[in-house]
Amino acid sequence: MSHLSDEIVIRGRKIKNRIVMPPMMCFSFKGDNGGMYGEQYVEHYAKRAKGGTGLIIVQATPVAGAAKQSGVWSDEQMNPLKKIAKRCHDYGSIVMMQLSCGDVDINELSVEQIRQMQSDCIAAAARAVQAGFDGLEYHFAHGYTLCRFLDPTFNKRNDNYGGSLENRVRFLTEIISQIRDAVGEDSIVSVRMGGNIPDLAGAIDIAKVFEELGIDLLHVSFGMKEPENDIPADFKCSTIVFNGSEIKRHVTIPVIAVSEIFTAEQASFLLENDYVDFAAVGRGIYADENWANKVLAKEPIQQCHNCGGSSRKCLWFTDHTKCPAKKIS
Ligand SMILES: Cc1cc2nc3c(=O)[nH]c(=O)nc-3n(C[C@H](O)[C@H](O)[C@H](O)COP(=O)(O)O)c2cc1C
Ligand code: SF4
Repeated sequence: MSHLSDEIVIRGRKIKNRIVMPPMMCFSFKGDNGGMYGEQYVEHYAKRAKGGTGLIIVQATPVAGAAKQSGVWSDEQMNPLKKIAKRCHDYGSIVMMQLSCGDVDINELSVEQIRQMQSDCIAAAARAVQAGFDGLEYHFAHGYTLCRFLDPTFNKRNDNYGGSLENRVRFLTEIISQIRDAVGEDSIVSVRMGGNIPDLAGAIDIAKVFEELGIDLLHVSFGMKEPENDIPADFKCSTIVFNGSEIKRHVTIPVIAVSEIFTAEQASFLLENDYVDFAAVGRGIYADENWANKVLAKEPIQQCHNCGGSSRKCLWFTDHTKCPAKKIS
């Protein structure tokens, strides 16, 4: 049996508890000089680190341009990233960066374009570690580019990147050793994947391959679409979380579950029954940046209102100042 307060060591990095802030953009934040990151982001993450979060995964960050050191990876943009890593460390959080390959149709990509994307993934990983991050998470979920490779219902390629499971994971198998060389033995390499790519059984097969490849941590969300499988009536969390717990039964690496985990009771239920190794609390930690410290101290939290219910229409997608859970200046 594990507890929310238990520490865990991955690649020599000590994560002080099992509470994760999953990657989440703040669309209404204005980066300095019109860029993606700025002081507002630095403070946003620092507050959640101060609030006791064990592991913070910084929002989807595009890999494109990392090799050329342009775009989000310019030196100008690296400074706030360094600050985010440092400030989170100062409060004792482990901090990783989610790396995204955007939203392109993989069926249209030439092999040269895939190769470019692969080298961007390696270069971005190296830059993230250079900025002080403890590791990175590749975004293979939510129907975006890398997710599409994995899902046979979308991936219609008839070359080495489509068809068999071996081909659908080839994007990563081809570069994993270069990623490891780029980030070193002591950085965490994680994958966020769907627990329904294209269904639970298919996702379990993919998760096993990721484990064999040497991925350190799996973060299970949804794939091309929301899952539709049934879950036991007494399971106190969402279907997405249930699928994460099923994947956990088939791998030995740690698994993060996410989606609609709002309460201390739900998070403890997951840990104490060994359903998963980490509970990621997204909107809950937006609504109350001290969610982790309060839950660990058994104090009441500022509840997320779950705006929009299962459609998860969080106002942080549009205007965070309207979040009803807290008044933000
Ligand atoms: C405003 C907002 C931004 C998000 N940005 C990302 C992102 O950058 N990358 C990602 O993988 N998921 C993103 N997500 C999904 C969250 O990581 C999380 O999976 C989802 O909110 C469900 O968890 P929750 O119910 O605890 O909020 C975002 C969600 C919200 C509400
Ligand atoms: S906008 Fe609504 S769903 Fe989003 S964090 Fe605030 S209360 Fe929760």
